[in-house]
Amino acid sequence: MIPAIPLREKIGHTLAEAPDKWVQYLVLLLFLVAVLSVYVSAAAILVGMFLKRPGGRRIRQVILGLAAAGILCMAWGAFVEPDWIEVSQVRIPTPKVSSPVRILHITDTHCDGWGPREERLLEIVRQEKPDLIVFTGDSINNPEDGLRAFRRLGTSLKAPSGCFAVGGNWDVWYWNELNLFGGTSWKALDGEGALVTVRGNRLWVCGAAYGGPWRTALKTAPPGAFTLFLYHTPDLAPEPELQDADLYLAGHTHGGQVCLPFYGALVTMSKYGKAYESGLYRIGTCALYVCRGLGMEGDPAPRVRFCCRPEVALIELVPEPGHR
Ligand SMILES: [Fe+2]
Repeated sequence: MIPAIPLREKIGHTLAEAPDKWVQYLVLLLFLVAVLSVYVSAAAILVGMFLKRPGGRRIRQVILGLAAAGILCMAWGAFVEPDWIEVSQVRIPTPKVSSPVRILHITDTHCDGWGPREERLLEIVRQEKPDLIVFTGDSINNPEDGLRAFRRLGTSLKAPSGCFAVGGNWDVWYWNELNLFGGTSWKALDGEGALVTVRGNRLWVCGAAYGGPWRTALKTAPPGAFTLFLYHTPDLAPEPELQDADLYLAGHTHGGQVCLPFYGALVTMSKYGKAYESGLYRIGTCALYVCRGLGMEGDPAPRVRFCCRPEVALIELVPEPGHR
């Protein structure tokens, strides 16, 4: 079931139009204050116990218990969850295909070097056999081991109808001079598209690098073809021109990377806050899928994921009933 999000008018980056963004920072601040309070109190209790000062036994147990649970959560977030990749299965009915088309959506690899996530990704591609592989940016965290790992992925990944990529904000801001995609399986798109035929179904795969000429990519879509639009952030979702796309794939938010149970992402780095934090949305006639991505924000951020497993999305376009 696609959650309904109404089509909005073109939205600027203002407090009035995106109040959720500020709520997000308030919740983050409260969370950090709560964590800090627990550890300051725990330290005070340990010092008090060492000095044999009297104090409430029950409250001491609760605070020390919370501090211990916090350490376990940090260990889980640093050593277990980052390599525990989820393959999300997403079905999108459309009258523009007559047989299923399988698209593997990869994003935010943020390669630090070759590791278990990169190995597992190759295994997933071998198992799932997608028709098409797409990448929506933020390739590496460093230009040495990270670049070598990303290029190794780029030469190893293969799909019968091709591999298409757009650059993310990291790629544009920090790695513009590097050869991320050249000489690999990736065809980099920046304000353009390619007409791909998959078992008789016509797909216009188009997109742009972060901040690139995305409108041009959409304008040149051939009539009748299923339009798959790739862009790093979901922040274009409310733009009226996106109604020319059938499916918009994005990453960037990392799903929050660190989430709270029942609340979700603490920070999304999207200008619309938590509105498009992860998953499938319907914006007018366009479906939007925001993938949590594979990797983690680079330095100086700590490499942790909590309640937010790394993700690749296997998107299956299926014929709409009655449209064969
Ligand atoms: Fe990213």
